[in-house]
Amino acid sequence: MNGVPGTPEARAVSQARPVPGRAAVDGSDCMADENGTRDAGGTADGDERAGGGGRAPGPVGGPQRDPGVFFDRLNPDMCVVTAVAGGERAGCLVGFASQCSIRPPRFAVWLSKANHTYRVARAAQYLAVHLLTREQRDLAELFGGETGDEVDKFARLHWREGPAGAAVLEGAAAWLVGSVLHRIDGGDHVGHVLDPVQWGGEGPDGPLLRLSDAVGIEAGHPAD
Ligand SMILES: Cc1cc2nc3c(=O)[nH]c(=O)nc-3n(C[C@H](O)[C@H](O)[C@H](O)COP(=O)(O)O)c2cc1C
Repeated sequence: MNGVPGTPEARAVSQARPVPGRAAVDGSDCMADENGTRDAGGTADGDERAGGGGRAPGPVGGPQRDPGVFFDRLNPDMCVVTAVAGGERAGCLVGFASQCSIRPPRFAVWLSKANHTYRVARAAQYLAVHLLTREQRDLAELFGGETGDEVDKFARLHWREGPAGAAVLEGAAAWLVGSVLHRIDGGDHVGHVLDPVQWGGEGPDGPLLRLSDAVGIEAGHPAD
């Protein structure tokens, strides 16, 4: 199963240049922030309003809505995001993730609406984010190549309970647990802005696993 073109999961399977994206349209997702207000960012249709009106210019020589010349240069660190809610545990490999504020410290992870993990994360108060080293590709294969719709990923590894029952994987290079402050509809992925409440960096040293190290892992769940 290949991912949606332009997603890290698609590029992990093939380094071929993606074709124009097809965002999964699902405007029904609740995007309330901690104040209960709704987020205005929910243009899950490919967003032709980007850039303040009018169509954003495409790359010279490329399809107008395919910014592959930009996306294809990205090589983010990969992480495993876990969620616990309603008696369910879930987790998936994530390439769409970054720090998004210094003061206060904030970290955002983007979960595909199609994933089992997203469905659990919708009801979760906390998410745990884990960085992997290159030697931990087996964890990337488990969390990125299998879906919780079919297997219990946690049955095969060591983990412990963090704050509010969050699932913290043993042996990650570094990890943080954050409470979910905001949910932002980005299209076929939903951003979860986290306020870190607990973290650790006692895991192995060495270069982190990046998207280029995950080439060949076929996403366990299609993104559309
Ligand atoms: C290299 C790579 C990067 C991925 N990046 C993301 C991502 O940023 N967000 C996401 O929700 N899924 C991402 N995925 C897809 C999920 O990790 C994958 O579909 C997983 O099997 C979903 O598991 P689940 O259905 O148990 O949640 C990525 C997969 C791969 C292989």
